[in-house]
Amino acid sequence: MITQHTVEALRARVNEARTRGLKIGFVPTMGNLHKGHISLIDRAKAECDFVVSSIFVNPLQFNDASDLERYPRTLPEDQAKLEAASCDLLFAPNVAEMYPNGRDEHTIVHVPKVSEGLCGGSRPGHFDGVSTVVMKLFNQVNADVAYFGEKDFQQVAVIKKMVADLSMAISIVTVPTARADDGLALSSRNGYLTPTERAIAPGLYQALQGIAKALQDGISMPKSIANATLQLNQQGFRCDYLEVRRASDLAPAIAGDQDVVVIGAAYLGNARLIDNLITRLNRVID
Ligand code: PAJ
Repeated sequence: MITQHTVEALRARVNEARTRGLKIGFVPTMGNLHKGHISLIDRAKAECDFVVSSIFVNPLQFNDASDLERYPRTLPEDQAKLEAASCDLLFAPNVAEMYPNGRDEHTIVHVPKVSEGLCGGSRPGHFDGVSTVVMKLFNQVNADVAYFGEKDFQQVAVIKKMVADLSMAISIVTVPTARADDGLALSSRNGYLTPTERAIAPGLYQALQGIAKALQDGISMPKSIANATLQLNQQGFRCDYLEVRRASDLAPAIAGDQDVVVIGAAYLGNARLIDNLITRLNRVID
């Protein structure tokens, strides 16, 4: 695998692959790679001829300076993991390469509605940062298909809407959430958990499963959510949000909806964990 740090060198390599008629797959990341990231690479390798991954800790999407500062940066280990997964090219630009004129003068891509609420509500500006950097990376890499994890459900919805609204010629593929044996969604932020917190952490996914079961059992949506919130807070989480949304477009679930996503975020010690559960209810929400 080769690593390129500049847009110019990246473009030269991808153009070379393109002139050979290869189908290009792209997996954007912020590094500190785990099996969830690698499952995206595996999927891209299975479906494409030339796979590009990027590692860039994007300052634009961090609304909290200390979160940006402490975000784990592990380039040599990440390169070894990508190499082992047979990734063809890594693009690892620095901040000056991505934002040469600073962030304040940069064009912002804003995807309305779907960026608001949920994580967009708790992290103002976060999804503007995501859509801006992903748009930019898409233009730099010029891939045919890009791969995103279902774990960041709202992020996928934002990217899909951006691609549709701006008529971008790239397909978006989503990959199921990779989990630890106890159900915890793999995340770079799990590294912030102490051993005691790590033992509690699967409680978030269990709370989402509890809401789905309660809805199946005919318990009302507000009551199902209130019970799960109480349970999380008793376990030591600080619940940020728990909601039931329509799976297709993330609109609030209303009477008659059956395909839903139970989605949540909660603080545990120094970490903010997010997760979701896509489910088809036997009974429609009433
Ligand atoms: P990052 O958090 O590094 O995630 C990169 C990709 O890996 C995302 O598509 C994310 O959904 C996916 N991913 C993370 N954990 C996963 C898991 N447990 N199972 C499956 N996929 C998982 O998401 C970002 O970076 C950034 O916002 C980015 C899109 C790169 C823009 O900066």
